Amino acid sequence: MKAVIPAAGFGTRFLPATKAQPKEMLPVYDKPTIQYVIEEAVASGIDDIIIVTGRNKRSIEDHFDKSFELEQTLQSAGKDDRLRQVRAITDLADICYVRQKEQKGLGDAIYCAKKHINDQPFAVMLGDSITKGPVPCTKQLIDVFDKYESSAISLERVPKEKVERYGIIKGVEVEKDIYKIDKLVEKPLMHQAPSNLAIMGRYVLTPDIFDKIDETEPGVGGEIQLTDALSKLDAIYGNTFEGKTYDIGNRLEWLKTSIEFAMDDPESKDNLIQYMKEIVDGE
Ligand code: G1P
Repeated sequence: MKAVIPAAGFGTRFLPATKAQPKEMLPVYDKPTIQYVIEEAVASGIDDIIIVTGRNKRSIEDHFDKSFELEQTLQSAGKDDRLRQVRAITDLADICYVRQKEQKGLGDAIYCAKKHINDQPFAVMLGDSITKGPVPCTKQLIDVFDKYESSAISLERVPKEKVERYGIIKGVEVEKDIYKIDKLVEKPLMHQAPSNLAIMGRYVLTPDIFDKIDETEPGVGGEIQLTDALSKLDAIYGNTFEGKTYDIGNRLEWLKTSIEFAMDDPESKDNLIQYMKEIVDGE
């Protein structure tokens, strides 16, 4: 299976940090966001990846490319650990890039990868969200896809006041944590949301989604919405996956995620707790 990672958006919610650098390259603790996404793909058994980029996104390609000068410098300095780390990034996966020439929405961005998918099921992983769980989120979706032989998307319950930020679904729970979806609405108003089950940025899709995108008219924000194309599929399932999704496109969430990930690192944990106590005590 291949994965498509759309990473062409302007990152307007995170300006000015994203004026000249892609939001997908914002570091979360010690790695760029998109590296976590690719690591999740690899952990889910996918190492063939298509990243949909746009203008100002060259640093993504540089990050996953070989850096001869850097490797040479690390080697001469005897920094073997760093050298291994840098080489591992290059060897993570086979990545190719396609450009979305105009920002016409998430549905359009996915459509840009059509020629590379060869009529096979594929995963979509949003480049600005990170997931953490006992089993990688995309792997959980692949299992749902295999069981129900239908497209599958990851879901999470969000507070009512946040539904306007997400695609929201309505469905029937067919087994624990799995919903057969009968309605999807992109960014509904709070009082019109059919539930508080939000689409969280991981999808495993049948290739007929491309025809559905092709038939989709611009929706919310004048953009071709993936959510609108998903509602045209014959069958689609949702999985409130075991784990947590971190939305990096939002600055407070980004900061919280960095702190949470630093707390997972024994080298930083104690110092960080000490520092946070000092800050809180000083308030
Ligand atoms: C996109 C999708 C939306 C989904 C969200 C998850 O919206 O269109 O359905 O809930 O990602 O982050 P965006 O955040 O790109 O506006």
